[in-house]
Amino acid sequence: MAVERVTILDSKRIILGVTGSIASYKSADLASKLVQAGATVDVILTEAAQQFITPLTFQAVTGQPVYTSMWHTDTSGGLPTHIAHVGLAEGADLFVIAPATAHHIAKLANGFADDLICLTALSCRCTIIVAPAMDGSMYEHPATVENLKKLQERGVIVIEPEEGRFASGLIGRGRLPETPTLMGQIRHALGREWGGLIDRHVVVTAGGTREAIDPVRYVTNHSSGKQGYAVAQAALDAGANVTLISTPTGLPTPVNASLILVESAEEMQQAVLDLLPTADALIMAAAVADFRPAEVAAQKIKKTEDELVLRMTRTEDILLTVGQQRKQTGRPSVLVGFAAETQDLIKNAKSKLKRKNADYIIANDVTAPGAGFQSETNVVTILGSDGSSISLPQQTKAAVAEAIIQRVAARLQTVPHHTTIPDEVDE
Ligand code: CTP
Repeated sequence: MAVERVTILDSKRIILGVTGSIASYKSADLASKLVQAGATVDVILTEAAQQFITPLTFQAVTGQPVYTSMWHTDTSGGLPTHIAHVGLAEGADLFVIAPATAHHIAKLANGFADDLICLTALSCRCTIIVAPAMDGSMYEHPATVENLKKLQERGVIVIEPEEGRFASGLIGRGRLPETPTLMGQIRHALGREWGGLIDRHVVVTAGGTREAIDPVRYVTNHSSGKQGYAVAQAALDAGANVTLISTPTGLPTPVNASLILVESAEEMQQAVLDLLPTADALIMAAAVADFRPAEVAAQKIKKTEDELVLRMTRTEDILLTVGQQRKQTGRPSVLVGFAAETQDLIKNAKSKLKRKNADYIIANDVTAPGAGFQSETNVVTILGSDGSSISLPQQTKAAVAEAIIQRVAARLQTVPHHTTIPDEVDE
């Protein structure tokens, strides 16, 4: 499946260094996905990597010349090799070494300069990401641990390998993560340099809440969580620390978001209130139930009667509660809600904006074609407390999310940074 263009990757120049590992083949997929997302990818292959995969593969997926040796004198298409490392390094926004073998990690940690990857790492001033891949025993060896620590202390981002089965048949930690994880790490690294929400804590709610009837049944709605997850990803791309409070959706958690799983409106409210002291922005994309069964049966309800009458009672309105509270606390600095409507879209949304003391309400007619629950796209109007109203054409939920995050970042520009970060509060 083709990847959408990704704003944070669009027009970025990424060097991909591939060292020799059984995981080298995975880098071809990573290169391909980066190119599809809009990046230009310059690949450097070590001699050992070429035992596993050929330069032609990378040339085909990147459309760029592939660099294989610092001794190579053929300059056709690529940069003259005597300056290739400098030329590549100068124009790069990010240098990703994936997979990185124990041998190369040792060379990088000690400043070796005997191949094009090491030379380029010494020359470049952009962020470097290293994704180790090796047998578990090699990854745990004190020499590797020390070398990785050295690199991290120098600002290199190390992607933790995954646990699993190796080519050797052994089980342990040392497997190169799959492409979506690597892409997520790359996006976040770029976001942390260029984004408008660096060092901000953004809390996003997503999914439809589940209100229990008995131990096996619940009442819910059609929310898929897709729009909320897209908002969380857009906030990560903007460099934010993101907490995603979500009901079970089956969607992959955006890489580097902290996920808090909840079920009911009450649990969601508790999670939101707990995080408010550190939240710069709260985006309530969840479809929170307005009513829940008044009594939850302790045991599974048996079909002894022909009818079952459920008495429902109101849940608390989380957005309203937060909107009222922040009049006193000032937290969160930016508050965004959604208005899922089936009629009188703008009128109802405007009234929610005011009543809930939000900065923005994202109004969507959930019955419109290409909009609402389950859909991959959305059609929204963004209403601001400053009286602004912008109707966006039908677009992907990712694009809608970016439009929301741009506004959140713009509002936060005038707000000073808080001193607490989320992890400090948990302790
Ligand atoms: N919301 C909430 N808590 C609730 C219900 C809704 O925080 N108990 C939030 C939603 O996350 C959304 C916004 O309020 O951001 C509007 O939700 P919506 O369902 O459109 O509206 P309601 O306020 O529930 O009003 P109504 O159902 O009467 O249209």
